[in-house]
Amino acid sequence: MASAVIGLGTYLPLRRVTNEELADRFDTSDEWISTRTGIHTRRWADTGQATSDLAVTAGERALKSAGLTPDDIDAVVLATTTPDHPCPATAPAVASRLGLRTIAAYDISAVCSGFLYALAAGHGQIAAKNAQRVLVIGAETYSTILNPADRTTNVIFGDGAGAIVLAEHTRKDQEGSILGVDLGSDGSQQDLIRIPAGGSRQRATPGDATEEDHYFAMQGKAVFRQAVTRMGDSANSLLQRIGWDKDSVNHIVGHQANVRILKALADYLELPHERAVINIDRVGNTSAASIPLALADAAHAGRLKPGDRILMTAFGGGLTWASAAITWPSITPV
Ligand code: ACO
Repeated sequence: MASAVIGLGTYLPLRRVTNEELADRFDTSDEWISTRTGIHTRRWADTGQATSDLAVTAGERALKSAGLTPDDIDAVVLATTTPDHPCPATAPAVASRLGLRTIAAYDISAVCSGFLYALAAGHGQIAAKNAQRVLVIGAETYSTILNPADRTTNVIFGDGAGAIVLAEHTRKDQEGSILGVDLGSDGSQQDLIRIPAGGSRQRATPGDATEEDHYFAMQGKAVFRQAVTRMGDSANSLLQRIGWDKDSVNHIVGHQANVRILKALADYLELPHERAVINIDRVGNTSAASIPLALADAAHAGRLKPGDRILMTAFGGGLTWASAAITWPSITPV
């Protein structure tokens, strides 16, 4: 028994933040941001808008895209780095606000690889016959955790949410099928991407943590160095396992961390740059929301045809990495 994607919904906050606006606030420039990251604009949530607010709208839209009602969903898996609260998880609140039954709802914490980890969890729920239809969401409000003094992270990250509906099916060749996933981690490098305070290692209590300790911090260059090989090796190992010839991959949907990483990833996989889906220019790095937002963008642009082979791969804090292979279903993202 396997699962297939039957719906996709997304949401981006209305507030568009341009490179020029950031150049007014930080010692940076449109030229630096465009050439070093490929980003021109990103969206940031309004004050008071939390991750669950974005997730609920994306979830509603995914249900609409799948032609389902709230009663049809058996579980919610939500990937986020920016939960509404450290405790409890955000997924139960999202499930409740979507009007779902009192079903399983839990968060996945795998930073930028989160959506593919959540996809693997949803796929596993269906394979184990615990659920027939799972709502898998990636939602982030990084603007709420960015250090106002750190120009590097401020120019990179954006807010957004994407959700897919996974449903049980019986035929492996069904369009939308998840044909395999590959997950990995290396916790020895946890310090490269982190929010130091607010957990049991360093409490949020005043005195235990400085203001800076509560913000997201990333050692960009060190992360950059391994992003391509981690994603590329994971993708190659998955392709080998499921028996897809590299040339048969129609689209590489990589985590939108940096346009230079996406191009280098295509080179590493020995595939033309044209096969890489890129929307980081308009949304920035949206972490766990990145892959579904890129899928929707490519679908709206008419790039994805039913049956196309899609290789998704991501890399992020943890360190974590993940890849998944699907064929594109006959759906219209909302
Ligand atoms: N504007 C102008 N200059 C800047 C900016 C900025 N916004 N940010 C950094 N610089 C400067 C640095 O201070 C440095 O100056 P120096 O040479 O005088 O010391 C110079 O630019 C080069 O800095 P680097 O950090 O070496 O810049 P790099 O080319 O590596 O680009 C970036 C930085 C964009 C962060 C890049 O390293 C990157 O994309 N890293 C990967 C990010 C990633 O993949 N993250 C994984 C997922 S994210 C997650 O899991 C949450």
